[in-house]
Amino acid sequence: MTKPLEAPQDGTVSALLEENRIFKPSDSFRSKALLQDERIYKEAEANRENFWSDQAKKLDWYQPWDKILEWKTPFAKWFLNGKLNASYNCLDRHMKTDRKNKTAIIWEGEPGEVRKLTYEDLYHETNKFANVLKSLGVRKGDRIAIYMPMIPEAAMAMLASARIGAIHTVVFGGFSPESLKDRINDAGAKLLITADGGWRRGKIIGLKDLSDEAVKACPTIENILVVKRLEDQDTQMKDGRDHWYHDLKEKVADYCEPEQMDSEDILFTLYTSGTTGKPKGIIHTTGGYMTGVTTTMKLVFDLQEDDVFWCTADVGWVTGHSYIVYGPMANGVTQIMYEGAPDWPKRDRFWSIIEKYGVTKFYTAPTAIRAFMKWGHQWPQKHDLSSLRLLGSVGEPINPEAWIWYHKHIGSEQCPIVDTWWQTETGCILITPLPGITDLKPGSATRPFPGIEAKVFKEDGTVIKEGGGYLGLTSPWPSMLRGIWGDEERYKQQYWSKWPNIYFTGDGAKIDADGYYWLLGRVDDVINIAGHRLGTMEVESALVDHTSVAESAVVGISDEIKGTAIAAFVILKDGHTAGDEMDKTLKQHVVKKIGAIARPSKIIFTEDLPKTRSGKIMRRLLRDIAEGRALGDVTTLADASILESLKEKYQEE
Ligand code: WT7
Repeated sequence: MTKPLEAPQDGTVSALLEENRIFKPSDSFRSKALLQDERIYKEAEANRENFWSDQAKKLDWYQPWDKILEWKTPFAKWFLNGKLNASYNCLDRHMKTDRKNKTAIIWEGEPGEVRKLTYEDLYHETNKFANVLKSLGVRKGDRIAIYMPMIPEAAMAMLASARIGAIHTVVFGGFSPESLKDRINDAGAKLLITADGGWRRGKIIGLKDLSDEAVKACPTIENILVVKRLEDQDTQMKDGRDHWYHDLKEKVADYCEPEQMDSEDILFTLYTSGTTGKPKGIIHTTGGYMTGVTTTMKLVFDLQEDDVFWCTADVGWVTGHSYIVYGPMANGVTQIMYEGAPDWPKRDRFWSIIEKYGVTKFYTAPTAIRAFMKWGHQWPQKHDLSSLRLLGSVGEPINPEAWIWYHKHIGSEQCPIVDTWWQTETGCILITPLPGITDLKPGSATRPFPGIEAKVFKEDGTVIKEGGGYLGLTSPWPSMLRGIWGDEERYKQQYWSKWPNIYFTGDGAKIDADGYYWLLGRVDDVINIAGHRLGTMEVESALVDHTSVAESAVVGISDEIKGTAIAAFVILKDGHTAGDEMDKTLKQHVVKKIGAIARPSKIIFTEDLPKTRSGKIMRRLLRDIAEGRALGDVTTLADASILESLKEKYQEE
């Protein structure tokens, strides 16, 4: 279900549409860039399949494929019958080169500890980790849930899973035990890997305790493997079920032969929110995903051997999978991994890390940039950021104001900014500048990556050459999702039913006279809170789960820092009273059900909701009310008087 395309109304979007500055790559950047001219676009366009197979050849395969692509809409297979292993490509192959002794990860804990691991260290650790998994009975095709803080062992756990052909499902450490439980049960995971805890803004997040809570209702979990990250943490271990990683590690062999995986064998599933109350397990397979992330990592970030790359995402999101684990490691990159908050202990933590380790490429989210902007440029100014050569942005549209601030105060007007559009489903970056080639326009993700075909459509499926509409992808790409775990019907329905043979992204987009793409945000019942995707229905289900709530409707409203925040309209059951107490209780309930990212910013208690005559809640009108706009078309409304009282209530709030 999509909302009708309305005139863009929030601040980001209207600012986007007025933006017309252009930033060309500097001569000094271009002259050293991997790609300096348009040729790659033309080559890829001439033959997309050959372009991708040339990229795939840069990976190490045990057995080459005998067909590049089989496309039976909506089911794609790439590199058919090719055999490879993702962990081999991220680790083993570097053992034969100088990269063996190169630093893979420079890790900083929030309290300030530092660990440096070379590719060889990571290789040894991952081999052991893989043997530990085997010792716990994990076999090819089994599912492993990973619920970890940002520590190197999170990456090792993923690589170890890939090494033995298991399927990992990473669950963001900020999600609640309930969310973890739902994902474990949907995936049917037999092992949960967690840690005693991690640090966030000076506090310990007790992941093992949260895990214990979750697995109470997870019949498939046989074992919990616990990595020790904290000191003096009193951790309850259940005999026979819970195991310390450092104990088991002592008992296993040093080497684990990587499983030879078929190109189409599943590498991982990752849950993401959709338009229903239930998150969906997005399936990614081995050959195509590795090809997509390895190629985009190298070309979008213009990788050079001496780069120090830093992606500030968490491994619990797809960005962490593709641009902390698989993309950087397949390319043998040195990278920073930081555990904690950007404002801990002070608001210059990121800039101090960049200075300390000489970070050259920095990849973060607009929501973070807007927070930095609000905190003021005196914080980055305290540090020497001259090592930076390129900046990246991901997760939501970046407003031109934030873009310009980032360019000026972080990049000293020297660094190209790659605004990268993609999704959990796309696996890798699909719309992006190539930094040595593309003239940048602040707020535009510019053009589809070579080998990618994206178009803007009208509701009826006609292509728009210039103007606004919906973004669709018109030909298959290697790292595309292969489905939704256990729900083929939902896969077809969600992505392939809007127009025949075209993947529907759920995003609005505009294409300008120069053919530049401007992403305008979600057009379905999905909202993007600080770069994190949530379904409005998920939040509604969490609210009505509370005994006092009869009905609720959730909408996204614009927010200076988060981009979008949550406003919830709530009807209470008889006998329950609205007020500050109830407000607090319900917000807390949503946090308990989903996690802190889902906490509503505003709850508006009401006796009624605007509905169509067929009973459908008109969210569009609720957004209008919540954002104080003139109300759109109300002719389909069953009872228009509800609106006036709602508007009054809202203004009181
Ligand atoms: C949704 C995907 C891609 C990894 C992080 C989020 C929005 C993402 C951009 C961008 C405008 C963007 C879209 C997309 N989005 N990047 N550069 N410009 N919007 O992954 O949780 O799967 O969310 O994030 O709305 O559909 P995700």
